[in-house]
Amino acid sequence: MRYFKLETSGFKKDVNISSSCHKQNLIDPKWEKYIMFSKDFDDSAKVALARDMVIHEEFLSEEEEKSIFQEVEPYMKKLRYEFAHWDDAIHGYRETERDRWTPHNTAILDRVRRLAFPTEKQLHSQVHVLDLSEKGYIKPHVDSIRFCGNTIAGLSLLSDSVMRLNHEKEKMMYADFLLKRRSLYIMKDVARYDYNHEILGADISVFRGEKVPRGRRISVICRNRPESAD
Ligand code: OGA
Ligand code: MN
Repeated sequence: MRYFKLETSGFKKDVNISSSCHKQNLIDPKWEKYIMFSKDFDDSAKVALARDMVIHEEFLSEEEEKSIFQEVEPYMKKLRYEFAHWDDAIHGYRETERDRWTPHNTAILDRVRRLAFPTEKQLHSQVHVLDLSEKGYIKPHVDSIRFCGNTIAGLSLLSDSVMRLNHEKEKMMYADFLLKRRSLYIMKDVARYDYNHEILGADISVFRGEKVPRGRRISVICRNRPESAD
């Protein structure tokens, strides 16, 4: 009888401990550094979005940032910033695609690919390089599901910025992500299909109530192909 009682109370205690641990594990305190959820999120929606939109701060060293910049800048600076896109999604930008990189930069991009696309055979060999002027911004959009697969991996160079992900159906559900200079974001699945994404313009570039000054920003983006693609 005694034994049974002890076991029962032990069991209850275990349940309490494991359920409180479980709850703590659900919401990772390190998200505070780079995700700000609007108040309409419940815990499971937070977990799903944070699982599929991960930011690796300091992914690039200062030397690596400079090395990529030096490779793209001679080409970029010959282009003019455009302030109207054919579909109006991006303002104040110039862009290119590149599939050949110096060996050093290839090694950096391979590090991105290994982390973001561990088993992927269907990568776009072209890397998208997007240069936003300090006045540039990207309006909410979902990347083409015809041309891009489930994962988008982006390096941020030269300036911090704020990326907002807004649920496509639940318009009150949005989350702001702080994209620090030299960070890598990996956006996939729920974050890539159920939410649109945008880069906030300088006038509204704010994270947790603090202004995030926007200078010129270059992103270097790797994508995979949709699964059905040949
Ligand atoms: C895009 C885009 C985000 C970025 O080009 O489709 O969303 O990080 N870019 O520049
Ligand atoms: Mn996009």
